Amino acid sequence: MTLESPRNAQTWAARSLLLVGLPAVAVLLLASTAFAADEAAGAPVAAVEKAKPSDPAAVKAGTEPCMECHSSDGDTITFADGTERSVYVDEKVWGGSVHGGRIACTDCHREITDHPHPELKAKTARDYTLERAVTCQRCHYAYYTRVLDSSHYDLLKKGNKDAPTCVDCHGSHATKSPSDPKTPRSAMNASCAKCHTKLYEKYKNSVHGKALAENNPDVPGCIDCHGAHSIVNPKQGDFHVRSYQVCARCHGDEKIMSKYGLSSDVLTTYLDDFHGASNRLYAQGAGIPGKPIATCTDCHGIHDIAKGVEGSSPEVTRKRVADTCRKCHKKVPDAFADAWMSHYPPTLEAAPLVWGIKWAYRLLIPFIMLGLVIHILLHLWRIRTHR
Ligand code: HEC
Ligand code: HEC
Ligand code: HEC
Ligand code: HEC
Ligand code: HEC
Ligand code: HEC
Ligand code: HEC
Ligand code: HEC
Ligand code: HEC
Repeated sequence: MTLESPRNAQTWAARSLLLVGLPAVAVLLLASTAFAADEAAGAPVAAVEKAKPSDPAAVKAGTEPCMECHSSDGDTITFADGTERSVYVDEKVWGGSVHGGRIACTDCHREITDHPHPELKAKTARDYTLERAVTCQRCHYAYYTRVLDSSHYDLLKKGNKDAPTCVDCHGSHATKSPSDPKTPRSAMNASCAKCHTKLYEKYKNSVHGKALAENNPDVPGCIDCHGAHSIVNPKQGDFHVRSYQVCARCHGDEKIMSKYGLSSDVLTTYLDDFHGASNRLYAQGAGIPGKPIATCTDCHGIHDIAKGVEGSSPEVTRKRVADTCRKCHKKVPDAFADAWMSHYPPTLEAAPLVWGIKWAYRLLIPFIMLGLVIHILLHLWRIRTHR
């Protein structure tokens, strides 16, 4: 083995754990290869109470007078830096939004009651958005508290004005319900794309992105892997270690995978293999490994995941796989790739040694146990009869 630097104590601890814990892991593997949804990063969070609509009479009183001026185009506001913005509110768009007819203009614009309005405080259009966005938390407090844990909120707090507020992802007057079946899944993805343009370009051409563009219900968009309100830094903590659980939600599910002619064994074969077996221990709480262990994304990519290249020669595939290994196992020859079983369960033909050991265990262990019991029983019998 040729890992560049010596393994640290943590890795050794994990390997001893692996040996001691092997029987336990085997039992775990047999007992459940299915994953609880909440084990995975970005899993859906429990439903919270919905915001309450305002009283219909109050909605009328707090909307109609405003629309007398705002339903026609022409007027603008000008910020100190010179940028202009129209104050036109499209009645149809407003009426079709989740808030239209349910709450009043004045529920959000509380400081405005009649015209002329109080003077603008914001110096730039971005400052204006940041200022106005605070209004959402009054009625959607549960969502606001979720955002508090996110990387995006940390950035905002540190003064990064490019980090998103509720309004950047949901809009202000045209807000749609993301759970409405009429809202396409790609719409929420598009909200991330506004800022993460480079990454989105990569994703768009991936096997997942291409399918999502056609409104495929089974492929992941940004929020399926990252969540929406509690996005964490993927480069920190146990995100890498646990990332295989995100893939496992779909790729370990036979019902979904059979639709695309894909094998759902990729998960179990990964977990049976040396990388998967030790990575899983870390994911289950053994901390963070000193050196990153290969997970699905190290071999397949992340935002640029492609279909397997059909028809490429075994040598080409071997070299491609070996290139992946060399990201961590520096300077190994192409043949090193053969150490990995390619998602195949060990068989007599493909991996006779692993296959042999696996079956030897399966057959020997029951015999040894049986022998042990018989031995003890004979012993007891001898003690009784020869006392
Ligand atoms: C008599 C016409 C008129 C009425 C009535 C009116 N507005 Fe305005 N509003 C304007 C104009 C004109 C502007 C552009 C800035 C300015 O000249 O004050 C504006 C700007 C705004 C702005 C952007 C600037 C800011 O202060 O945030 C908001 C928000 C707004 N109005 C909300 C409302 C609401 C809510 C109501 C109902 C309570 C309302 N307006 C009633 C004419 C009106
Ligand atoms: C759900 C809360 C909410 C409601 C209800 C609401 N607004 Fe707004 N409004 C906002 C937010 C947030 C902004 C800032 C948007 C931005 O900067 O992108 C805004 C901005 C504005 C502006 C400034 C121009 C612009 O579009 O950025 C005007 C004018 C305005 N609102 C008028 C109205 C009127 C009239 C109504 C009622 C028909 C209304 N708003 C209802 C949240 C709301
Ligand atoms: C005065 C209270 C109030 C404020 C302020 C408010 N909302 Fe809402 N919001 C509601 C109500 C009421 C609903 C409709 C709930 C329902 O569909 O049953 C709603 C629905 C929503 C939904 C769809 C929820 C779902 O379950 O599908 C989203 C998204 C949303 N609001 C975002 C925002 C954003 C973003 C802001 C700030 C710009 C905001 N809201 C400000 C009251 C409010
Ligand atoms: C980075 C983008 C982003 C930001 C910032 C964001 N949201 Fe969301 N929000 C989403 C996405 C995507 C969904 C749909 C997926 C989900 O429910 O997890 C969603 C769902 C919701 C829903 C429930 C809709 C439903 O159908 O269940 C509400 C309400 C909501 N957000 C309110 C807010 C509020 C309030 C804020 C600000 C405190 C906020 N969001 C900030 C992206 C965002
Ligand atoms: C208004 C712009 C904006 C929107 C919209 C937005 N982001 Fe971000 N996001 C940022 C900025 C700025 C950063 C910090 C710089 C960076 O890492 O690119 C960031 C960072 C991140 C990170 C890395 C976190 C970290 O700690 O480094 C992830 C993951 C992420 N965003 C996912 C999303 C997803 C998923 C969505 C859509 C639901 C989304 N973003 C929508 C601006 C945005
Ligand atoms: C199939 C799952 C998956 C999907 C879909 C996905 N991501 Fe990621 N993303 C990851 C993983 C895993 C990482 C961390 C990889 C690592 O470094 O270990 C990551 C890293 C990131 C980062 C931080 C690191 C970087 O490369 O800058 C950002 C920002 C990000 N994703 C945004 C997005 C956005 C925006 C989308 C939608 C266009 C998206 N992701 C779609 C799994 C996904
Ligand atoms: C929300 C479900 C879902 C998640 C999460 C998911 N995938 Fe997929 N993936 C799919 C579906 C469905 C397809 C088939 C798409 C098609 O063929 O149009 C696919 C296709 C693929 C393929 C191409 C297989 C081939 O040769 O055709 C690879 C490789 C892949 N995914 C890897 C990953 C990895 C790695 C992760 C985790 C970072 C992941 N996926 C997360 C649903 C998912
Ligand atoms: C050590 C590298 C490696 C790891 C780790 C790995 N894969 Fe693979 N995977 C491959 C290779 C190589 C192929 C063969 C296809 C090819 O030539 O690209 C493949 C094939 C696949 C396929 C296509 C299966 C089919 O039926 O055609 C899927 C889906 C897949 N992997 C998903 C995953 C998931 C999910 C994980 C994590 C649980 C994972 N892989 C872990 C290297 C890896
Ligand atoms: C992301 C980095 C990474 C990648 C990529 C990677 N490995 Fe590993 N590999 C590791 C680490 C770390 C260990 C030690 C795991 C442990 O502590 O149990 C390991 C262990 C191994 C072992 C077990 C033997 C030993 O001495 O621990 C073999 C064999 C191996 N890898 C082969 C491969 C092959 C073949 C590939 C390419 C298909 C590959 N690895 C890709 C990080 C990686």
